[in-house]
Amino acid sequence: MDGRDLVRSVKAVGSTGAAQGWRTVRAAWRRRRADVAGLTPRGAERARVPGPVRDVEPGPGGGLMRFARSELRIVVTVSGAVFWGWDGAGPEPSYALAGSSPEPDQRAVLEPDKDGAWRVVAERVTVVVSRHGAVEVCTPGGVTLRHDLPPRWWEPVGGGAARWLQRSEVSADARFFGLGGRASGPRLRDGTYRLWNTDPGHAFGPGDDPLYITMPVQMVVADAGTHLMFHDSTWDGRVTLREGEEGAGSGHDRAGTSEVRMDGGPLRCWVMVGTPARVLHTWASLTGAPALPPAWALGHHHARWGFGSDQEVRRIVLGYHEHGLPLDAVHLDIDHYDEHQVFTVDGERFPKLPVIAEELRRDGIRLVSIVDPAVKAEPGNAVYDSGTVEDAFVRDSKGRLVRGVVWPGEAVYPDFTRARVRRWWGELYEERLAKGFAGFWHDMNEPVSFAAFGESTLPRSARHDMEGRGGDHREAHNVYALGMARAGYEGLRELTPLERPFIFSRSGWAGMQRYGGTWSGDVATGWPGLRASLSLVVGLGLCGVPYSGPDVGGFDGSPSPELYLRWFQLGAYLPLFRTHASLRAGRREPWEFGAEVLEHARVALVERRRLLPYFVTLAQLAHRTGAPYVRPVWWGAPEDRALRDCEDAFLLGEALLVAPVLDPGTGRRAVQLPRGRWYDTVTEQAYDGPAQVLLDAPLSRIPVLARAGAVIPVRGDDGGLELEVWAPARGRAGGGLVVPDSADGWDEPEIERYVTRWKKKRVVVELDGRDGLSEPSRPVRVRGLGRR
Ligand code: NOJ
Repeated sequence: MDGRDLVRSVKAVGSTGAAQGWRTVRAAWRRRRADVAGLTPRGAERARVPGPVRDVEPGPGGGLMRFARSELRIVVTVSGAVFWGWDGAGPEPSYALAGSSPEPDQRAVLEPDKDGAWRVVAERVTVVVSRHGAVEVCTPGGVTLRHDLPPRWWEPVGGGAARWLQRSEVSADARFFGLGGRASGPRLRDGTYRLWNTDPGHAFGPGDDPLYITMPVQMVVADAGTHLMFHDSTWDGRVTLREGEEGAGSGHDRAGTSEVRMDGGPLRCWVMVGTPARVLHTWASLTGAPALPPAWALGHHHARWGFGSDQEVRRIVLGYHEHGLPLDAVHLDIDHYDEHQVFTVDGERFPKLPVIAEELRRDGIRLVSIVDPAVKAEPGNAVYDSGTVEDAFVRDSKGRLVRGVVWPGEAVYPDFTRARVRRWWGELYEERLAKGFAGFWHDMNEPVSFAAFGESTLPRSARHDMEGRGGDHREAHNVYALGMARAGYEGLRELTPLERPFIFSRSGWAGMQRYGGTWSGDVATGWPGLRASLSLVVGLGLCGVPYSGPDVGGFDGSPSPELYLRWFQLGAYLPLFRTHASLRAGRREPWEFGAEVLEHARVALVERRRLLPYFVTLAQLAHRTGAPYVRPVWWGAPEDRALRDCEDAFLLGEALLVAPVLDPGTGRRAVQLPRGRWYDTVTEQAYDGPAQVLLDAPLSRIPVLARAGAVIPVRGDDGGLELEVWAPARGRAGGGLVVPDSADGWDEPEIERYVTRWKKKRVVVELDGRDGLSEPSRPVRVRGLGRR
């Protein structure tokens, strides 16, 4: 427990004097001692490596290799993903997988290679295993993408979970991405990244690591190809990355390295090889299709910790209305709870919540509720009482309830690794629905306890059900929020079967996209925070979580009008577009920053609303293909090194390139363009890539470019869907996909494919349907014809 924890715990329990503070510190130390006592001491350890291969048994999709001190199972699956597991580890059980493991690809066989090695040759990848257990992942052309050295284990002599280390090499030019939500990326530079979901306890900036979502998922991009590597262990771990260096002139290349150290859990992994799009498609087929948010969730959200009363909610909504600013959702934070207890409402300050919710809904605005997992440990509190009947709460090794301290004071924690508890929790959302809430914001679910046990979370010795297998918090911690998301999602599917649930969660793990999205957490107000918030969105997208966005303006303090506006302009192009701030922070309504900011913010909001059909299409495509809405600029050309190193711009789907302003006082900025023609969407000026161009970025807007030939679905003045078409370069063709909204239900609307080309002196747009090409039934507007 450090000083910050103490301050927070003292604040949280509302204590006044130092005496109470010291009692809290003493209690924390007592808890910590009890935690250590609750775990078997590791004692002496024995190190182990696989040793030489003894025999090999081919099996479906690969086979089993027995080494002197371990065995390796390797399976190429029909999804294209390759699994391998040491020491008897199979793909299941797994919190990451969406269902059971995909079937083995019967065409892939284990066959002898040279020097006593064996290999599995599959359509998209070849895996070679040396006679000492080094594993090499190669492209079908035989170029090595990753070379895993034989792993090493340390086993407690007296029994217990083995720690392990997997060291790998990648090519000298490779770049690492992923590992969940990282503030210093998206390119992960040399350093050690911890795998332990953490509330940093303060508003974070690029130097803070780890944060709320960590995942053992690496996306590695190199000249020779892209691969995604997933180490399927939920335990605490550390990944040390070191980019390689190419030997200039006469020198040798130095390979890039990754070292994954895990405190426990099986040593098993999945690897996917191909283009970035293919890799993420395979990843989504393995871990689940990203949930489709309802269309309103793709609009603008306004949150506030400390609305204070339902009158204040009305006042803010009126403010949006009077200033001509589109608004789609209002989020209520913990201050609307009764004494900070989840699934309650303070009836005095929010007496008319269902009425207000209904009024807002009529104006197209939804109410979203925060949901915290910790339950006030007080008999008489209905959630505590029903949870007690269900035996829902986490206990320690002696069978006593584990108590932490969060907003409501002393609290207990549901064990989301137990199916019965998830069901009970899912049913609690009925109360929220009755109050008129349409969406859910899961918070504090790393999970957090202010009265720390050494760290601000549950003790490592706390027991969890782990789907009946039994385990402790060391294994359950990283999937705690994933279980909570599942509970909420499945509960809502039961309660409102006709509607798509909307959940976004601060913490999570591999596979969380099945249930919803996330946001960037408490990002620090400042220019570095703005940059960090983009890093999180891009990085999470590359881990398969496509829906996220930052607290526009930052969580703490008061942004300058310029910083607020630049954040707002970026947020308008991110999947979750939400203004939010802390209780003690300055205001975040667009009209609080002066007339000029208000005017430019309105432009951004109106443009977001115009692009809503495009966001709906991107959500549908993410759901069907796993491709994130927000993609790094190298998405279509990972071999382009200048693009690979570009971290200050992104592609929004296929059609748009967004170049936010991330520094103060900027009036122009350099933009690295991928191949092809690009139009500035405001001036319609054309630029040809690959190139670096300097573009105007006045306060009124950030540069947004459209790809020549793109077909973008937009909302017309009458609210109907129109096609905005950007002229292809002369002699070239283009096109785009459009998926209309399914009115927030479960129908899967058909994809409309459009093609564009020059015909004589005109740009024609056609629908490429089942019966061939036809005229689009939707209004078309061609742009980019004037200036080149
Ligand atoms: C922490 C969350 O990150 C933040 O968004 C929220 O406002 C506070 N908790 C209070 O609930």
